[in-house]
Amino acid sequence: MIASAPGKIILFGEHAVVYGKRALVAAVNLRCRVEVKKSQNYLISSPLGKTGLDFKVHPYISFAIRRFHEVKKIEGVEVKVDSDIPIASGLGSSAAVAVATIKALDAEFETSLSDRDIFEMAKQVEIDVQGTSSGIDPFVATYGGAWIFPERKKVDIKQKFFLINLGQKSTAKMVSAVCQLRSKYPEIIDKIFDAIDFLVCEAARCNDLEKLEELISINQSLLRAIGVSTPEIDEKIAKLEREGFKAKITGAGGGGCIYGIVKDRIPEGSLVVEVSYDGAKIEDS
Ligand code: MEV
Repeated sequence: MIASAPGKIILFGEHAVVYGKRALVAAVNLRCRVEVKKSQNYLISSPLGKTGLDFKVHPYISFAIRRFHEVKKIEGVEVKVDSDIPIASGLGSSAAVAVATIKALDAEFETSLSDRDIFEMAKQVEIDVQGTSSGIDPFVATYGGAWIFPERKKVDIKQKFFLINLGQKSTAKMVSAVCQLRSKYPEIIDKIFDAIDFLVCEAARCNDLEKLEELISINQSLLRAIGVSTPEIDEKIAKLEREGFKAKITGAGGGGCIYGIVKDRIPEGSLVVEVSYDGAKIEDS
């Protein structure tokens, strides 16, 4: 059985969403496909290597299988991953692989999980691996589309976005760094999260691209204030601004992707994506 799930971009609100604030998120047209086959053993093949159940090399898939055991005991399974989503770049590759694995296991072993069950299990997998998760990535990988999260309010987004990948990062490390900064300066950091929450509301009802770009710059400055930008990201964004673009981090920061709105032209070396309304689904084999 083959299942797939989309990657995502967080347009506004990453990190603040971990503390219950709102974020605007969209699934994009980059997908992760996972094939599973009943077997006597465990074998996982992906661009990261070939292993058995391996919580270091393939943590999201291995924990997804472990969590699936709570629904149905299985003897073994072969898992093959093929993904368009760059790994550890803020585009939700981990959540997409967890969601697609659970969706494929559900179909292969006929466990009739609902989308809600799949989302909840994938969120649990993120917590198993990262220690914490707002659930935003598994939510959008399960349902597709564009949303205000955690309210689960659908948003209609027509514009395309450009992405520039500035290398891999660790979500767990960035979330933990923000947590430490917040323990040191709770009033300051919570006020920044409140500002991000207002910004998300403003962005969700805004159709004016110039204004959206202004909000992108404000959100980027606030992300910089909570310590998740890097000199490389700051320099790249400053260069893009000199060329007439606006951009911000999408996802955990500390590296990964920056995004901006596609208007009449795109920056050199960028990748263009659009919102995908296809959530997790079974593919024809
Ligand atoms: C990661 O894509 C988004 C974060 O806000 C973490 C989370 O919400 O779980 C950084």
